[in-house]
Amino acid sequence: MTHDDSPFLEARGLVKSFGSERVLRGVDFRIRPGERLVLLGPSGCGKTTLLNLIAGMLEADAGELLCEGSRIDAPAHGIHQPMRRRGFAMVFQDFALWPHMTVAENVAFGLKMQGLSRSERSERVRQVLTMVQMEGFADRSPSRLSGGQQQRVSIARALAVRPRLLLLDEPLSALDARLREDLKGELATLLRQSGVTSVYVTHDQSEAFTLASRIALMHEGRIEQIGTPEEVYANPASTFAATFLGVSNLLPYSRENGHFLLGDRESLTPVVLNGVGDTAPADGRLMVRREAVTIHEGRDAPSDSIVLSGICRRKDFLGDRHEAFVEVEGGVTLRGFAAPGIVEGTRVQVRFPPDAVRFLTH
Ligand SMILES: Nc1ncnc2c1ncn2[C@@H]1O[C@H](COP(=O)(O)OP(=O)(O)OP(=O)(O)O)[C@@H](O)[C@H]1O
Ligand SMILES: [Mg+2]
Repeated sequence: MTHDDSPFLEARGLVKSFGSERVLRGVDFRIRPGERLVLLGPSGCGKTTLLNLIAGMLEADAGELLCEGSRIDAPAHGIHQPMRRRGFAMVFQDFALWPHMTVAENVAFGLKMQGLSRSERSERVRQVLTMVQMEGFADRSPSRLSGGQQQRVSIARALAVRPRLLLLDEPLSALDARLREDLKGELATLLRQSGVTSVYVTHDQSEAFTLASRIALMHEGRIEQIGTPEEVYANPASTFAATFLGVSNLLPYSRENGHFLLGDRESLTPVVLNGVGDTAPADGRLMVRREAVTIHEGRDAPSDSIVLSGICRRKDFLGDRHEAFVEVEGGVTLRGFAAPGIVEGTRVQVRFPPDAVRFLTH
């Protein structure tokens, strides 16, 4: 194993229950130094539980967690390294600043614990407050800051201690939409520039895309898929992954004599899908992203597209374009982006390129 392959953090079969509820059901992952891993998944899937295990606030029931090759949580070996000895820092959803301290005192607090001298502390505080564009607020009380400013300070406080690992649990979710959008971009730049290894929890796919070097998609206590944002988006491993990220068409199908039968058992439509037949499993779901599907009035179609004919059942204006829902023979409906002239109730053409098709078996 070369140095670059050795993970900074590694989870092997982590299991955690609360009472009779199994919240983590065997979690495995590896994080390389400098990576920005985003744990993405719906509410209740176990993201915060996993983050708290990494932080050391919780102990696993089974499995193990290793940091730079040393076990830090391993119940079978009686190992649980306490939180304060891990050298990790955490940013919370609710900012969690100390109200009786100024901004500078909040940021300096962990530095005192690390034994930095007074002058080192004030230099570090100045540095990180500049990084988060809060240099003018050092003497303010947190109660006199906006939500976005408070979250900037709590990010500065976490970065000030130069943590080995930065953990963030939905840090933007208490902010309004506009501020969330702005701070998301700033935070992405900050994490990249600082080079800190981080684990970022969110249920918001746009945050995940902006912030992650890799996304770990969580579902019911497991990591369902892990990869770069591009990989996970282009090749979802499951129906869940395809549905949670992006907008897709998911058409049940089975194959017979070189034809695809689209639709549910009662209403199967035989269609020929040029150029996609050979690799498809015998049945499952055919996936095409909405943006790969275009809907046209014309009857002539380019020969390199898959073309289905159907009736436009609905057309919606999305602001920057139109979306249409088209019912093809057999009652299967596809959604895609439509030419503005498409009229509801008329016959239209649905087109998508063969290489946009994916097959999902679960
Ligand atoms: N301390 C606890 N005691 C009992 N049950 C808990 C505890 N913490 C979490 N749970 C349960 O574990 C499950 C996962 O919770 P967790 O907070 O990890 O989810 P999450 O993915 O972070 O969700 P959200 O997006 O809503 O924050 C939930 O069903 C929750 O009720
Ligand atoms: Mg949570």
